[in-house]
Parts: sequence; C-alpha cells; structure tokens
Amino acid sequence: MRHSTLRQLQVFEAVARLKSFTRASEELFLTQPTASMQVKKLAEDVGLPLFEQIGKKIYLTDAGHELHRTCLAVFEHLDRFAMIASDMKGLKAGKLRLAVVTTAKYFASRLLGMFCQKYPGIEVALKVTNHERVLERLMSNQDDLYVLGQLPDEVDAVAEAFLDNPLVVLASARHPLAHVRDIPIERIGEEPFILREAGSGTRRATERFFSRHDLKLKVRMELGSNEAIKQAIIGGLGISVLSRHALALDTEAPRGQLIPLDVQGFPIERLWYYAYPSGKQLSLIAQAFLEYLQQAPRYLGGLSRHSIAGRPRPSRQGAGGGKAP
Ligand code: PGA
Repeated sequence: MRHSTLRQLQVFEAVARLKSFTRASEELFLTQPTASMQVKKLAEDVGLPLFEQIGKKIYLTDAGHELHRTCLAVFEHLDRFAMIASDMKGLKAGKLRLAVVTTAKYFASRLLGMFCQKYPGIEVALKVTNHERVLERLMSNQDDLYVLGQLPDEVDAVAEAFLDNPLVVLASARHPLAHVRDIPIERIGEEPFILREAGSGTRRATERFFSRHDLKLKVRMELGSNEAIKQAIIGGLGISVLSRHALALDTEAPRGQLIPLDVQGFPIERLWYYAYPSGKQLSLIAQAFLEYLQQAPRYLGGLSRHSIAGRPRPSRQGAGGGKAP
C-alpha cells in the first residue's frame, strides 16, 4: 500500500462510516465519481475488494472492516500529534474544528469571529448541519467541540448547557393571528404548518410538544433550512416553530415581516449545549473556545435576552441526564 494516499484513506473512511458514496462526497466536498475513483485505487493497492454492493446498499468486506479500523487508529494518532504540536505553539497556531446545529450558526459564527480576532493564527473549520448529523459526528469523534440541543441518554459525552434556546411560533406580520393575545394551542393545529426536515432538533422538539398536547399538525410542507422556512412564512405559505435565535441577526427577512405569535405554552424552553465525547482530551485551542461558549450570554448582547444565568444549569458527564425535550 505504499502508493495509497492519506486522501484515499479519508475518502474510504467517510464512505465506510456513512455507508454511502453520495453522503461521503458531500461531506468531503468531492464529486461522487472522484470519491469512487479514490476508493477504487485504494482497493487496487490493497489487492482485495473493500465494499460489496447488495441491492442499493453497500457493505464493508472483511478487508474493508480491517482497513476501516486501521484508518481510525491512524487518524487518531495524527490528530493526537497535531494537538501536541499545536499545544507546543500555545494559542498562536493550530486548528479548531467545530460542528454546530443549523440553528446555532447564528451565534456560533459570531463567537468564532471574536475568537479569531483574539487568536488570529488559529485556523477554524465550522461544520453546520442538523441535530442528527452533528450527533453522528460527535459519536465518531470528527471534531473538537459540538454545539447542539440536548443529547440522548445513550450518547457517552460530556455536555453542558450554556444558553437558552426558546422555540417560538412564527407567522407573517400580516397573519390574522399576528396581534391576537393568548392564542389557544388548538388554534395552531388549524393553520397550515411548515416543518423542518427529519433529523432536525427543532422538528423533534416541535413534534413532541404538539403530541404531548394531543394535537396533530396540518403539515403543508417540509423544508431543510430555517432560512427557507422564514421565506415561506413571509410568502404566506404557513406558520412554523423556530428558535428565536433564527430570527436574530436576520439579514434576509427584515425585522417586521415575521412575528412570534402569543400562543399558550410557548416558548418551548430549550437549551444549547456544548459537548464532546467522554474521555476526549481537549486541545488548548478547544479549551479556550469552550471558555468563550461559557461566556456566551455575556458576549452575545441582544441574543442573550434569554440568558440562563441565574438558574441552575443542567449538566452531566457521560450518559446521565434527562431525555431530550
Ligand atoms: P436543528 O437543531 O438545527 O437540527 O433543528 C436545533 C436544536 O437541536 O435545537
């Protein structure tokens, strides 16, 4: 395998983990033919097939499983070396890899901006994706730190809440309910509703909330981003439940076009957590950024109106703690 490259191993690892060439090429910003070619060359070097295809699904062969384990060990060693090297340089150089859920990008990029100003030599990689994908990344230890809603019990991670994440019912400012006070929840069930995609934490919290109240939503459409949902609301296609953070720092939808409705039982009180796998040793850089996250309510000015300071923070190590709301 002298001619195999680290890139080929990275592509192979992503395909093996995600069980999909399409998802691996998306993750690595490659075209699918390029990803297939890299894996094909690697299999030629190994001299054995690495995957087998049955129907539409791909499976690792025995050689594939063995190589996947080897890849994980190699990457772990390289990561450890990179961390040692960057710790040797103090906070002057090195990399911070952060993965955050879609809704957290509104404040995470702002905090990152401040952090990079203070430590200009640090390179930052920010991955923004939905709750389910961020969890997958955490469980396969792909980044330094993660920001997401509450973790399920079975995930073995250190997680701590650091900021409020209130979910509100959003409507167009021209909606007939826009200025009605104390709207009964049942009334929301009559409105066409726009839902985030499967895998979204916002969607899961919304569905749980309405099913706890024995209410079925009249789902008109599913959209894969908060931005698309806001535009659909402004376009009069329906109402939705989104984080108040998705309204802050809004550039696309000028304030005034969207309005949080005064619905009984709202906002749904959620929290943002930072997390990392239990046992992971944080680099100096990750520790420094973690301190920024802990200070988030102070740094975020207007966004921190709902700061959790002053009430007990649910915190847990490992698999303890409550179920995700
Ligand atoms: P989402 O996550 O962006 O996947 O909806 C938000 C959350 O977990 O609260």
